[in-house]
Amino acid sequence: MNASSLLSMFAKTISSLILAASLAACSAPDEPSQADETAALYNTTLTNKELMALIIEPASDILWDSGGWVLDASGYEELYPTTDAGWAYVRAQAAIVVEAGNMLALPGRAEDNDAWMIYSQGLSDAALRAMDAAAAQDEEEFFQAGAQLYSVCSACHQAYNPDIVNRFVESD
Ligand code: HEC
Repeated sequence: MNASSLLSMFAKTISSLILAASLAACSAPDEPSQADETAALYNTTLTNKELMALIIEPASDILWDSGGWVLDASGYEELYPTTDAGWAYVRAQAAIVVEAGNMLALPGRAEDNDAWMIYSQGLSDAALRAMDAAAAQDEEEFFQAGAQLYSVCSACHQAYNPDIVNRFVESD
């Protein structure tokens, strides 16, 4: 797949996320007292920043490093796993990201009850797609799932932490 079709796919995913987020913005927020009560049921000691740096980023990096091709001094190198164990490993990393969507959505972590929840679910959805693709050892579908995942990270950072978007792109 070429760069421009990848870009237009990002754009499509982002605009549908934005649409979903603005629709959600119309619904009434939960009662704060109820949210506080629920928050007390979970251990949210880890900050969102720690979740990002210690759980979400490492697992996602393995997914991105396991899809597509790179051109280096020795020519094109395929990054996809080549063994059942290799696919099982990336599938497990995707599972971490699926659940990370829930971690972000917990009371005490969620920054609101609107767009934040849409992006958190978007993270789980993209990672579930990666899990299915890994189970099927479907390279093209796995690559698409990685692209979808990347667009969710970027969309949430754009909305909630524009500084991160720049850092994230630079360090990528
Ligand atoms: C639901 C919103 C949301 C999603 C989805 C999301 N992030 Fe983040 N991310 C944030 C916020 C907010 C911060 C800033 C946290 C802070 O500094 O307090 C952040 C910060 C980060 C940081 C910087 C951490 C640090 O040590 O400063 C990294 C790296 C990161 N995210 C990676 C990712 C990756 C990779 C994905 C997708 C696989 C992703 N994020 C998905 C909201 C999100």
